[in-house]
Amino acid sequence: MCGIIGYTGKENALQIVLEGLKRLEYRGYDSAGVAYFNKGTIEIKRCRGKIKDLERLFSERPVSNTGIGHTRWATHGRPSEENAHPHRYGRIVLVHNGIIENYLELKRELINKGHAFSSETDTEILCHLIDNHIDNKSLEDAIIEALRPVKGAYAIAVMNELEPEKIVGVRKDCPLIVGLSQNGHFLASDVPAFLHYSRDVIFLDDGEMVILKPDGFRIMNLDGEEVRKSSIHIDWNPVMAEKGGYKHFMLKEIFEQPRAIADTLRGRINPDSGEIAREEFNIEEGILRNTERIMIVACGTSYHAGLAGRYMLEELARIPVEVDIGSEFRYRKPVLEKNTLVIAITQSGETADTIAAIREAKAQELRVLSICNVLGSTAARESDGVFYTHAGPEIGVASTKAFTTQLASLYILSLLLAGLKGSLKHESIKKLISELLEIPHKIESILKHSSTIETIAKQHINRRGFLYLGRGINYPIALEGALKLKEISYIHAEGYPAGEMKHGPIALIDEELPVVVIAPKDELYEKLLSNMQEVKSRGGIIISIVTEGDRNAKELSDYVIEIPPANKYLSTILSVIPLQLLAYYVGVTKGYDVDQPRNLAKSVTVE
Ligand code: F6R
Repeated sequence: MCGIIGYTGKENALQIVLEGLKRLEYRGYDSAGVAYFNKGTIEIKRCRGKIKDLERLFSERPVSNTGIGHTRWATHGRPSEENAHPHRYGRIVLVHNGIIENYLELKRELINKGHAFSSETDTEILCHLIDNHIDNKSLEDAIIEALRPVKGAYAIAVMNELEPEKIVGVRKDCPLIVGLSQNGHFLASDVPAFLHYSRDVIFLDDGEMVILKPDGFRIMNLDGEEVRKSSIHIDWNPVMAEKGGYKHFMLKEIFEQPRAIADTLRGRINPDSGEIAREEFNIEEGILRNTERIMIVACGTSYHAGLAGRYMLEELARIPVEVDIGSEFRYRKPVLEKNTLVIAITQSGETADTIAAIREAKAQELRVLSICNVLGSTAARESDGVFYTHAGPEIGVASTKAFTTQLASLYILSLLLAGLKGSLKHESIKKLISELLEIPHKIESILKHSSTIETIAKQHINRRGFLYLGRGINYPIALEGALKLKEISYIHAEGYPAGEMKHGPIALIDEELPVVVIAPKDELYEKLLSNMQEVKSRGGIIISIVTEGDRNAKELSDYVIEIPPANKYLSTILSVIPLQLLAYYVGVTKGYDVDQPRNLAKSVTVE
């Protein structure tokens, strides 16, 4: 789990690589490094810490036209300068994202042959293996030979001191994207790394290698055969990948949600006819019609979207749904019946456990539909169908706009299936579609009151724990609210189904415990009021999310945040907005780096 970048061309490589690394820091940030050609030799600078620490190592930036860089999230070997990439052995210098599974065995063999190692990483063996094969061979041929015994996941960018201006990249089970421009060529773990310079990209597939030179590139497979691929034009504006005037990416992304949802709906639903564009799901109509069960797999926030999706799909389309966490699903030998549609939900499309779940489903000959935010990502490419959430690049490590666009996508899918299965009449679907179109505007009205949420947040920064309660479809929203608070404010928080509280967690309640209750007016509202009474009578501090104008819940609450009325499926999208803001303001007030919380990385591409 790291970010890599490489550039060769007419421009200043060091500048481009350092800039790109900053945009990849969401993938990991415990150490960083660069390597670049300088007067015929390769120089390396690396350090523990972030890119800003790396920049301090340069009193002046040498002019170089070829360089590679890395930002690390440690897996093998603690964060330290020795373990920071690039690694070097002999003439070979490389950066790596992924894990070499048989590195201990390979390292032992190399040590027996007299090799000495300077780091604790799995990566360093790759330099040794390539250097062993480089005599009289080109870098690409040496890499092909060197990779034969290697097992595991990798995206690598490699330079050879004897072949200036050349970078070779290889991909297996980790993302690697090539960027093309008049002034040079790029490779990187993700598009925002070079979006300022290139929007024409090629997504490498597993087992493919790219050879970059300033004036051209070649793609080959690991059998040495040429591969022809065409580029895709990415229309993300570079400004979209920047903070856009907000203090943090997370805040920007919270405020972008009206736009992100509007984009996700655009061209997919027609409020006049009540039609849903089935072709947007890229999956045969017959498959959808014959679906008898749905298995949703995802991790983290995307898993919470899946839990909420279950309520939508079961209640609207009347299809039984199971939801599982990717890392559990892949190892529990799931029994999946024929006519089960597997839905993988993933913002990045690169989460290792979700990809493994997709592969498991495919091995059982089931159809897989991904709900994914990243064009051309592994999940998107390996699934039978993809529905893209058009949230745009999500840089803040804590997922926000991806979650709400996933909820909107699951709602659209539920209505599509409801139409195909005949579980809802056309008129009802039409009405539910028109309600969806009102959501961006309703989110805007919540965002206008962000200062109220900031005030509440500031009063609770020193609490030791929070409890989040919800019932029915709001239970997953309680889980998501708790996850947001944990990850960026480092305060323990638990999400619980409100009805289950008296079976244990009620023992936690005292006058020090804030209890966040998601209490919009729906069919479980009265029951939730009773749960609020239970909290109140034990002295708990109630912060409630309620429908505008609701007096009853207000009377029981110490703090109230209002959301506009919406049907219960869509009110999930509204009620999570104040929870995202609450977590954000608690984290920021405590002085934490909310965009890059400790121990976390944006894209979990290893198990
Ligand atoms: C939490 C968060 C993570 C991700 C999870 C899955 O804010 O961002 O829990 O949701 O790592 O990532 P994707 O959706 O990229 O598969």
